[in-house]
Amino acid sequence: MKLHIVKDKQAGANLGYDIVREIYDRGELNVFGLATGSTPITFYEKLRNSDMDFTDTVAINLDEYMGIGHDHPQSYDYFMRQNLFNEKPFKKTYLPDGLEEAEKECASYNKIIEENPIDVQILGIGTNGHIGFNEPGASFDSLTEKVALAPETIEANARFFENKEDVPKFAYSMGIKSILSAKKIILFAYGEAKADAIFGMFEEAATTDLPASALKNHPDVTVIVDDAAASKLDKSKY
Ligand code: GLP
Repeated sequence: MKLHIVKDKQAGANLGYDIVREIYDRGELNVFGLATGSTPITFYEKLRNSDMDFTDTVAINLDEYMGIGHDHPQSYDYFMRQNLFNEKPFKKTYLPDGLEEAEKECASYNKIIEENPIDVQILGIGTNGHIGFNEPGASFDSLTEKVALAPETIEANARFFENKEDVPKFAYSMGIKSILSAKKIILFAYGEAKADAIFGMFEEAATTDLPASALKNHPDVTVIVDDAAASKLDKSKY
């Protein structure tokens, strides 16, 4: 894993953009794996303000809450339209449908990923080290499935809902194996709350207790963090 420590979210977005732009300019960004959360917002802003054209690119998102529909303002589908798709149309965009029956929806999502191998996957990270909605304990062999949100994830995401009780308890998420199938992975992490997870990823052995540590098994991962997220690392080593 390659680590870049940057000044702030803007610098992170700029660096992420440069990396993706190079792949795009080579004509190799056919399928773009996307993530939600507050972390990639500056990166999406950078894409929106660029001259990149995604009308020949397929977008596949990591996950979606179960039980809420496309037009719910907290759905990831809504988030993606607001932050990227409305301004930058893609050839086709895929997110799991949170209102469909779990088994059927996850099977069809796995087929979509199989038929559209991901060139670059964007990731954020949960405070507990989750990627997508793969919470601690998730198998490194998992494909898209219905997953239960960890209590700390419900807590962290409660800020987006009117009441904590409104936060969905389940989601459909690409599995860790699906994420690792991407050719290249770029993970962004900002802020003190991510420091333990980033420390674990770099300094501890891969373990299902820290889902993001599965990225150690991937040959091309770039991790872009700010000083606060890197604060537990011994920087002289990187
Ligand atoms: C959610 C998403 C993750 C995201 C995480 C962190 O749980 N499923 O993909 O990485 O939140 O969110 P934030 O970027 O807001 O810290």
